[in-house]
Amino acid sequence: MTTTEDNPTAVETAEGTGARSFPPGFVWGTATAAYQVEGAVAEDGRTPSIWDTYSHTPGRVAGGDTGDVADDHYHRFREDIALMKRLGLASYRFSVAWPRITPQVSADALGPVNGAGLAFYSTLVDELLAAGIEPAVTLYHWDLPQALEDAGGWTSRRTAERFAEYAEVVAAALGDRVRTFITLNEPWCSAYLGYASGVHAPGRTEPAAALAAVHHLNLAHGLGAAAVRRAAPGARVALTLNLAWVRTEGSRKADADAVRRVDGLQNRVFLDPVLHGSYPADVLADTAAATDWSFVHEGDLALIHQPLDVLGVNYYSPTVVRAWDGAAPRAEADGHGNSAHSPWVACEDVEFPELPGHRTAMGWSVDPRGMTELLLRLHREHPGLELLVTENGAAYDDVVTAGQVHDVERTRYLRDHLAAVLDAVEAGAPVTGYYLWSFLDNFEWSYGFSKRFGIVHVDYATQQRTLKDSALWYATVVAANAVPA
Ligand code: NOJ
Repeated sequence: MTTTEDNPTAVETAEGTGARSFPPGFVWGTATAAYQVEGAVAEDGRTPSIWDTYSHTPGRVAGGDTGDVADDHYHRFREDIALMKRLGLASYRFSVAWPRITPQVSADALGPVNGAGLAFYSTLVDELLAAGIEPAVTLYHWDLPQALEDAGGWTSRRTAERFAEYAEVVAAALGDRVRTFITLNEPWCSAYLGYASGVHAPGRTEPAAALAAVHHLNLAHGLGAAAVRRAAPGARVALTLNLAWVRTEGSRKADADAVRRVDGLQNRVFLDPVLHGSYPADVLADTAAATDWSFVHEGDLALIHQPLDVLGVNYYSPTVVRAWDGAAPRAEADGHGNSAHSPWVACEDVEFPELPGHRTAMGWSVDPRGMTELLLRLHREHPGLELLVTENGAAYDDVVTAGQVHDVERTRYLRDHLAAVLDAVEAGAPVTGYYLWSFLDNFEWSYGFSKRFGIVHVDYATQQRTLKDSALWYATVVAANAVPA
């Protein structure tokens, strides 16, 4: 059967149909994060994180939603693993909730390790391995213990120090069975959305604090990477970044300058210290009015510049900017995207006339070329660095009809982005795996449960799971190690 525009979920099997193969051993997975799926927020000794506080603050999250129950994955992980197995998935990327592991942490001391918290993840890992699924562990996916935020959060270097101690505890407990540890997920969001635009926890709107957070997150990565290696010498250490494929259609000098600034604040301010041991001079200059960067201490850059085994790339949507002269209201000012850089970049995001299906339920434009371009840029600028797509996927307004979800648009999005990954691979980029975001519909941060990214539908009233058509389609991709044309 041939895949067509009308029926992108059709199963592709026969040779000669134009299916394109991935390299042997390519790792196929799905991803989730603790606060988005687990629920059980007060069980087995867990204490509040900044997302508990934020989601329980009226007006912060759409519909007043919280992660109190979410997908109840904490209790249903066996059922969820059985579904993953049924789909033939090779790997599962999940995150560990720091407030489960060291619930009494303070800025000065890690506090006692909570055996019950560790046991949950240890069992999860065992069950995954028993099902033939490789675990990939993210150590920090935004659920900072509230006690650390109360002492300054990511504006304080002590948060980075405590993170490394926590990372060592987790790596020591799971490192005999887990090959890949990802220190941080999307530190850009933690810093800019958490401390500049305030649309993520802890909801602060202090631009200078966001830059201090950038540095302490980089430091947390470096200290954490060293800690993981101490505790689990055989493990691979990764960092996951949401890098922007940023460009302009404008021809003014100011348009090019906006591109450079966004590239600096979103891409190079993370890549350069980690991969080269330095901060980009233009970013320091662009932000000089907000801070003198004196939170960067002697020796910090050497600590951040640890060997990186794998770079995780999360890509969803392109970033197209144009310079903004301040006359008309700025476009895209909701604080979630590029406008989080607004203290340092006078630009606005450009939206293009829509083609059907070319925007997701998040309002994000769809352009798979960005995936290829990003991967190729990383390959060009950092030759030899192994790359892993740690997230890619799309939210659409799914409907369950007679026990089925015909999410044709998601399948098309996935097909086109997988083809884009393969384009990069064929051009030489060393991409070794792909994690689809997400396995389950889940708590989409300040959008609550209103946005569905899963390939498995969740009925939040009953916790019933329903495989969407995209899940069945993904299973055929995984089985064939190939993407249909
Ligand atoms: C990135 C984040 O890591 C994840 O938590 C989020 O749900 C997805 N993008 C979709 O916005």
